Amino acid sequence: MGTLESITSRPLLLLIAGVKGAIGSTMVLASHIMRRQPEMITPYLTTTALWSDGGAVAPVHVAGWDVSQQSMSQTLILHRVVPESLWRKDRDRLDEMPLAPAPKAGLSVSAQVDQLLEDIDAFRKTWPDAQPVMINLLPACSECGLATGDAIEKMDGGRFPDLAYARAAIAAGIPVVNFTPNDLGDPALVTLAAEKGLPLVGRDGKTGQTYFKVVLASALKARQLRVDGWYSLNILGNADGRNLMDPDCARGKLANKTELLDDVLGYRVGEAYGESAHKVHIDYYPPRGDAKEAWDVIDIKGLFGLPMSIRVNLQGRDSILAAPMALDLARWVLLLQAVGRGGAVPELGFFFKKPEGETPATTYEDQLRALKKLEAFCREKLAT
Ligand SMILES: NC(=O)c1ccc[n+]([C@@H]2O[C@H](COP(=O)([O-])OP(=O)(O)OC[C@H]3O[C@@H](n4cnc5c(N)ncnc54)[C@H](O)[C@@H]3O)[C@@H](O)[C@H]2O)c1
Repeated sequence: MGTLESITSRPLLLLIAGVKGAIGSTMVLASHIMRRQPEMITPYLTTTALWSDGGAVAPVHVAGWDVSQQSMSQTLILHRVVPESLWRKDRDRLDEMPLAPAPKAGLSVSAQVDQLLEDIDAFRKTWPDAQPVMINLLPACSECGLATGDAIEKMDGGRFPDLAYARAAIAAGIPVVNFTPNDLGDPALVTLAAEKGLPLVGRDGKTGQTYFKVVLASALKARQLRVDGWYSLNILGNADGRNLMDPDCARGKLANKTELLDDVLGYRVGEAYGESAHKVHIDYYPPRGDAKEAWDVIDIKGLFGLPMSIRVNLQGRDSILAAPMALDLARWVLLLQAVGRGGAVPELGFFFKKPEGETPATTYEDQLRALKKLEAFCREKLAT
């Protein structure tokens, strides 16, 4: 099993599906900058104390796949997440990264898995000492989902590309982080991951508006202030925002963003009106790029049922919020793999809008408590 230090001192190898996306390219950059200026990265990770127990921070290598043919520097310019002044000196190294083309959409899932396994093998040979983690950062998809009786192996891989990446990772003995809203929806895969002691965690990173929604809703619940209605609006101008204008692609994301409020509060918001009074809207607004803005109007009731109201305005940056969380999750799944905890891990609900697994904690304090307990469990296992 090894000690905590034997895990935290080894390099990480992030294998990213969608490595040239806004989050993927931000993670690439963070891994490069971490080597020369760790102070620009490590203070913004929640796993820093856990991972620094062993001393120096181990390097993070990134490899992965994308359908985009653009170089990494062109990709960084396109996404407008990080100013060029921060990465100009890394340009050559960024453009020389060993990335692989995504498997062709027309191939069956099983043919896609075979290609991905070859790529994984090559990436492992490049960094033989590193501990690999698969991170799914593919776009929210419209046709994802499995129907009863679907023969997954023969299915057209392009219909649900996430499946091949997750299957290849589990076949290669690699844990998986599903940061997307896409439901991998394959219980057999989760069971296999559990049997092999490989965490397969997700889904839908809880990065900005929804994170603060859980915090606020938990605080209102603790004070017995009744939520009468909650209106949430987001504008964003990145590729994810453009993709979410397709109602089919947005369906899963909107459901994940909406359902969790009732779960935190323990009652249906809007039950007095006979319909949900929790509304969530996402609007693609190109001028903003990755600089997402979110508004929340929260109507609450206090003593005598008298109404009050709260306004929240978050001026965030989508990928700047998401990239460190994905890196934290990579560290978490390595730790869990080391202690033999495979399959879904509901204790990681702190990180996700729709935590997979049975009875995940819903309120902010319960999610933090679950995370601390998980850390204590891992530490204890690794100390014995
Ligand atoms: N940014 C956030 O705060 C946040 C929060 C929760 C979830 N998410 C989810 O994370 C995911 C990634 O977000 P993003 O902003 O980086 O999206 P993005 O659209 O910028 O990146 C997706 C990348 O995947 C690539 N891609 C498409 N099909 C592929 C395939 N078959 N194989 C390999 N690569 C392929 C695209 O070319 C693109 O580079 C999305 O599903 C998004 O909904 C993001």
